[in-house]
Amino acid sequence: MNPLISNLFYLSRPPWDSGITPPELLEFIDQHPAGRAIDIGCGTGTNLITLAEHGWQVSGVDFALLALYKARRKAKIANVKIDLHLGDASKLRGIKGKFDLALDMGCFHNLGEKKRDYLAQLDNILAPSGYWLIYAHLTPADGTPASHGLAPVDLASAQSRFDLIWRKDGTDKIGRDSVWALFQKK
Ligand SMILES: C[S@@+](CC[C@H](N)C(=O)[O-])C[C@H]1O[C@@H](n2cnc3c(N)ncnc32)[C@H](O)[C@@H]1O
Repeated sequence: MNPLISNLFYLSRPPWDSGITPPELLEFIDQHPAGRAIDIGCGTGTNLITLAEHGWQVSGVDFALLALYKARRKAKIANVKIDLHLGDASKLRGIKGKFDLALDMGCFHNLGEKKRDYLAQLDNILAPSGYWLIYAHLTPADGTPASHGLAPVDLASAQSRFDLIWRKDGTDKIGRDSVWALFQKK
């Protein structure tokens, strides 16, 4: 995915844009005190708004301008303050930490070779003991190389910087293998 294609998706409502905050994030919110959160690949901001409504100070980054435009409009309607950045998730330019939570629903698995840069930036912006809550598609279990998805090597790379707190494997609504995972900065 590149910004042009992503913007094209946001001309209408993309298939992933359910407008519903997932139970995994709601559970996290229930179990942790409010702090600073960033949603990386925030799309139209549904989860930023939920976090803000629960007292979190929130920032979002996405490379699709149209998504950010929609997020700003939704936040205005919800009467919450959100801080939005147009930019690449693997660079996170202009974003000043430290965040207690970084949420990533469906962005990291798109990054291909840029995943290492992303993890280094994530490490920079997370507070000590900060969390990374991620939802991603998995690469094929038979090891077929794929440009999209979270591979075992990506998980190993993440675990060199972050402890894996829990992991929940499943399938998405069209049967793709996927995972929710919570990491904590070492
Ligand atoms: C599958 S969508 C999920 C959006 C949102 N997290 C949600 O759950 O509705 C992935 C989002 O990541 C953004 N994205 C993908 N690659 C990105 C990158 N390299 N830098 C910034 N945003 C990116 C896309 O524009 C898109 O909004």
